[in-house]
Amino acid sequence: MTYQTLLVEHQNGIVTLTINRPDKLNALSELVLSELKDLLTELAATSSGIRGMVVTGAGDRAFIAGADIARMGEMTPEEGAAFSQLGQAVPRLLEALPFPVIACVHGYALGGGCEMAMGCDYIFATETAVFGQPEVSLGLIPGFGGCVRLLRLVGPGRAKEIIYTGRNVKADEALRIGLVNRVFATKQDMMAGALESLGLVATKSPVAVSVCKQIINELEGKTTSEQMRVENAGFYRVFGSEDKREGTAAFLAKRKPTFPGK
Ligand code: COA
Repeated sequence: MTYQTLLVEHQNGIVTLTINRPDKLNALSELVLSELKDLLTELAATSSGIRGMVVTGAGDRAFIAGADIARMGEMTPEEGAAFSQLGQAVPRLLEALPFPVIACVHGYALGGGCEMAMGCDYIFATETAVFGQPEVSLGLIPGFGGCVRLLRLVGPGRAKEIIYTGRNVKADEALRIGLVNRVFATKQDMMAGALESLGLVATKSPVAVSVCKQIINELEGKTTSEQMRVENAGFYRVFGSEDKREGTAAFLAKRKPTFPGK
């Protein structure tokens, strides 16, 4: 499939997805969101052999500067609610992919941009990265899952302060509060760092990594007993996998495993 607003590259089992609307700082219009929805749905259906994905923004200035303000300015409440549902669906699809996804953020990751990044499994950033949920400055609120995921990542006090004030959160603070995992000097270093991280994941059992992702994403909002049941069901699942047979046999034979991914 070809896309007007996305660039998609496949190399050595790693997908690099670039949001490509640099003249508007990669702002999320309905077209960008619906193309993302189509692409992620297709990747989920044809995921065999994919070990990870990097999501980034085109150009030097932004990951994504937010949902498209020009479009939102003219929407009715009904259209706004539908736009929010589309915007919420995309990070949910990122979470449902059976492989890890790293957001690589340089420049602005504001509003919907911060929300897309938080829908990825973890975030790498450059020193230029600027995060924030500035919606209240526009009479709006975070509507692409931002209230939910910022709370989860940084806790209620910090999430409330960032959302109520709409202030910018620079890379060093984002690292300190746990929004970002690693900060790099340049975009090139960050992309190399993300490929290295996914390269390490690619040496592990695809089944086990995918089950871990699913478990961690499912734990939210459950009691401790329910959480233990989810983890236990995952343990059961990997015990039926060929990867588990190969991984344990390779260890005992003192050789490197070759995981079949089943
Ligand atoms: N939606 C639509 N268009 C956007 C946008 C957004 N969220 N963010 C930036 N753009 C557009 C600008 O309108 C401008 O378009 P133009 O050249 O046709 O006028 C272009 O991208 C470049 O942005 P500009 O504002 O000129 O760059 P800047 O360096 O002066 O400022 C920002 C950069 C990120 C500080 C500023 O663009 C901004 O505040 N954007 C909105 C951030 C936001 O509130 N996001 C949450 C939305 S809910």
